[in-house]
Amino acid sequence: MLDWTDRHCRYFHRLLTQRTRLYTEMVTTGALLHGDVPRHLGFDASEHPVALQLGGSEPADLAVCARLAQRWGYDEINLNCGCPSERVQRGAFGACLMREPQLVADCVKAMRDAVSLPVTVKHRIGIDRVESYEFVRDFVGTVADAGCEVFIVHARNAWLQGLSPKENREIPPLRYEIVRRLKEDFPQLTIVLNGGLVSGDQIEAELARVDGAMVGRHAYHEPYALAVWDQRFFGESRPPVDKDEVEEAMVRYCERQQSLGVPWPHVMRHVLGLRNGQPGARRWRQVWSDHSLKHHKPAEVWQRAQEALRGARALVE
Ligand SMILES: Cc1cc2nc3c(=O)[nH]c(=O)nc-3n(C[C@H](O)[C@H](O)[C@H](O)COP(=O)(O)O)c2cc1C
Repeated sequence: MLDWTDRHCRYFHRLLTQRTRLYTEMVTTGALLHGDVPRHLGFDASEHPVALQLGGSEPADLAVCARLAQRWGYDEINLNCGCPSERVQRGAFGACLMREPQLVADCVKAMRDAVSLPVTVKHRIGIDRVESYEFVRDFVGTVADAGCEVFIVHARNAWLQGLSPKENREIPPLRYEIVRRLKEDFPQLTIVLNGGLVSGDQIEAELARVDGAMVGRHAYHEPYALAVWDQRFFGESRPPVDKDEVEEAMVRYCERQQSLGVPWPHVMRHVLGLRNGQPGARRWRQVWSDHSLKHHKPAEVWQRAQEALRGARALVE
């Protein structure tokens, strides 16, 4: 997710769950071909398995970027066919690619020919007011013929005119039945459902009908929810990691990042939801989001945050 699942966020999420697959923000082919590759592609070894999401529609450019992704050690390349933003539409990629399944198939083929990594596609169930199941079925069929075996389906249409990207994640109705039907019609494909999943129970219910679940906003806003997923969905026996341990690991990570020139607020902004629902969470969060402390050492801010938490606990007890 753009501006959210950067490498610092992924490092944090990986402390909470070892088994789930993490996805980068969308990186455009232009950014990789003309920009700072290490900044866009660098990640920590602990993040595996991690997929790079690409935005683009030129098969040759995507092939070059896929090779870069392979060289940098990614585990999967995912092509964005779901982003509705105007900027992305001007670049003629993202959700508007659903109108051109053959082009998407060519993109997938070019990337598959270039690398040995799995190439997957994330898309919507339709664009604008096209509600017909046949539209998305034919899209998936055409792209699957080019060798794509995994489809991550955001279960709502993208309305390409008149809605902001945010509204496009909220207003077009969710239709899980379309995703389930794709699974029925393409049993050999891996179909992953995305959109509106906000609880473990809901994820479990959907996993009975499709092959996987992708969780976006809920994972970001309620990160500690991730801590039980390895046990619940992957049969791991390890108990959920402790919040204090996670916070300490993030402080150590901030220290390492600081020595590379990354200020701690860039990292800790992703961590602010860790203690949601716990007494003192608000005061703790206030400390970690206090930018006037940005020149303090992460360990000092940590101490203040712990004091805020303990103070609030004492008030409650
Ligand atoms: C801030 C933000 C940035 C996003 N950026 C991307 C992106 O780069 N690529 C993408 O495929 N989807 C992106 N999305 C969409 C999410 O991946 C997801 O499809 C959508 O939010 C629906 O799932 P959810 O209800 O679990 O959040 C973004 C969503 C948000 C909130």
